[in-house]
Amino acid sequence: MSFLAALGSVVAVGPLPVNLGTAGNYAILAESGVSVVPPCVINGCVGVSPIAATALTGFSLTLDPTGQFSTSSQVIICEVFAASYTAPTPTILSAAIGDMVAAYNNATGRVNPNFSNLASGAIGGLVLGPGLYKWTSGVSIGSDVTIAGGATDTWIFQVSGTLTIAGAKKMVLSGGALASNIVWVVAGAVTAGAGSHVEGVILGKTSITLQTGATANSRLLAQTFVALDQATVTP
Ligand SMILES: *[C@@H]1O[C@H](CO)[C@@H](O)[C@H](O)[C@H]1NC(C)=O
Ligand SMILES: *[C@@H]1O[C@H](CO)[C@@H](O)[C@H](O)[C@H]1NC(C)=O
Repeated sequence: MSFLAALGSVVAVGPLPVNLGTAGNYAILAESGVSVVPPCVINGCVGVSPIAATALTGFSLTLDPTGQFSTSSQVIICEVFAASYTAPTPTILSAAIGDMVAAYNNATGRVNPNFSNLASGAIGGLVLGPGLYKWTSGVSIGSDVTIAGGATDTWIFQVSGTLTIAGAKKMVLSGGALASNIVWVVAGAVTAGAGSHVEGVILGKTSITLQTGATANSRLLAQTFVALDQATVTP
């Protein structure tokens, strides 16, 4: 019976998904600030906590009359939230930050990687199937890298150092792989070079920077700050 059931369904390959909790409601969530150089396009909610709204720069914010959120022409679909806004916003943000840190700790705590220190962290040109990947160093992407697998497959990339994507280089998905099933959990700074393209949720212990014109099919969840320069973020 179970054999036939397995034949009739798609069997997911890769680690148990990382539960983002309410942090998964944000395109960008950061603890110490979000700065943008316009024009950026952010297709989802932006939140900062415990820092105040003064740490949101470049948005040209308009505070809503309720005091609970601001709007910005660069933030589509959703709004901008800060810990200094009117209740219940601070409580909601505080919970989201807690969920973000829990997700980071969960993802970085996964053991028994399928791949350890693959290519010494220079992964440009590789095709990465589903699994748990661990690097005890930084990871650099100097040419396009492909993430290949089905729509239910999962990837966790644990990076102990920095994650750097060179200018104009891309993460490419193939085979139906979904950005929402990919998690980069990075202890050091994350930098996407000018015109580069990122796929997957980023859980950053420190900062996440998208340089001029970079695009990301990502949630950018940073324990320090997020900086965008004329960039596009789509969860
Ligand atoms: C991560 O969370 C899952 C539940 O979502 C749990 O089963 C697993 O033990 C956790 N792993 C770590 C390393 O915390
Ligand atoms: C990854 O490792 C886990 C645990 O050792 C194993 O169950 C799983 O089959 C491996 N996955 C791949 C894609 O190699």
